[in-house]
Amino acid sequence: MPALINPSILSADFANLERDLGRIANADYAHVDVMDNHFVPNLTLGVPVVTRLAEVSPVPLDLHLMIEDADRWAPAYAEAGAASVTFHLEAAQAPVRLARELRAGGARVGVALRPATPVEPLLDLLDEIDMILVMTVEPGFGGQSFIEGTLPKIRRARAATDEAGAATWIQVDGGVARGTIARIAQAGANVFVAGSAVYGADDPAAEIDALRALATS
Ligand code: DX5
Ligand code: ZN
Repeated sequence: MPALINPSILSADFANLERDLGRIANADYAHVDVMDNHFVPNLTLGVPVVTRLAEVSPVPLDLHLMIEDADRWAPAYAEAGAASVTFHLEAAQAPVRLARELRAGGARVGVALRPATPVEPLLDLLDEIDMILVMTVEPGFGGQSFIEGTLPKIRRARAATDEAGAATWIQVDGGVARGTIARIAQAGANVFVAGSAVYGADDPAAEIDALRALATS
């Protein structure tokens, strides 16, 4: 699988999101972190903003919903034009029903796991989802350090998808940077979210190319 680089606009300038989306036009997706101040102790943006971002972004949107009651709120993000909608397993009452609803809404479906949530409950449900998001920091904030203890979970997820012959993408989010991305790729991830690494660089587009090269080396 080719390595996909999805910069997180959590580290962009929230007063200039259209401009900062334009700076990552060579990315595969733009990663949009939706936080509700309940599932995580931070608050970002919601459906009206996502609707406009989808209209102006040069690349498709990869939504990461860090919100309670995903069953109720997630489908609106597919309707808002997101190409991919990821909800947290810990925040969904009926993840299979929700995944089917999101696919019916035209989105790819991701299921996210906090660092202490095991991947095994998803492994019999790979047909229902398009992506597993392994959080490699506790969700809520950018700029945190990669948690090394999450690497075995990435390896187990990749081994299981390979064994099943599934096309499931494995995304990592948190602490992805030049110093960590090669090891994460070797563990089996193929989609890399990077916020502070990309938007903290002098040239975000060049940083995307550098990260992609390190992930495929
Ligand atoms: C954190 C968010 C991440 C965040 C990653 O909860 O889900 O997408 O932007 O930031 P970095 O890449 O700086 O660790
Ligand atoms: Zn995220």
